[in-house]
Amino acid sequence: MQDFTYFDHLEDLDAESKYLVHKAKEATIHSYAPYSKFCVGAALMLEDGTIVTGSNQENASYPLCMCAERVALYVAAANHPDKKIVKLAVVAHKKNHKDLTPAACCGSCRQVMHEFEQRQHKPMEVIMWAPNKKWTKAPSAASLLPFGFSKDSLDG
Ligand code: THU
Repeated sequence: MQDFTYFDHLEDLDAESKYLVHKAKEATIHSYAPYSKFCVGAALMLEDGTIVTGSNQENASYPLCMCAERVALYVAAANHPDKKIVKLAVVAHKKNHKDLTPAACCGSCRQVMHEFEQRQHKPMEVIMWAPNKKWTKAPSAASLLPFGFSKDSLDG
């Protein structure tokens, strides 16, 4: 836990992170969340400054719902395969509530982020308004997933 940095106010974050949070919030416009009514947006920054966004996409067959973070990560991999991800921000709000609600990335997204990080041999920062109501900056996906499962386990 000591690796994480906490901020009481969004304004306290660095300019780049604030901008990513803004883009993540904007991405929630395209959330498709008729079932949970929980809109999530993610925005990530590539090493050349390109921003890629995603939002959660639900389905009447509930297990098929896809999280915002993974939508953004897979779009980045499919369209910018050679660029590393430096930072990812995720925000959520409940439908018809314009204010953000605290939310941390789910375990599945942490697992996927972890593999992206291993593929690119470079950590990505993760920013979220955590359930403790603090803007939280994690230095890497690995810091959010101790003992994460990886390719190494399969190869070992
Ligand atoms: N959701 C995300 O988009 N990201 C997360 O990390 C957690 C959950 C979405 C999935 C579903 O559409 C809704 O939030 C409620 O679980």
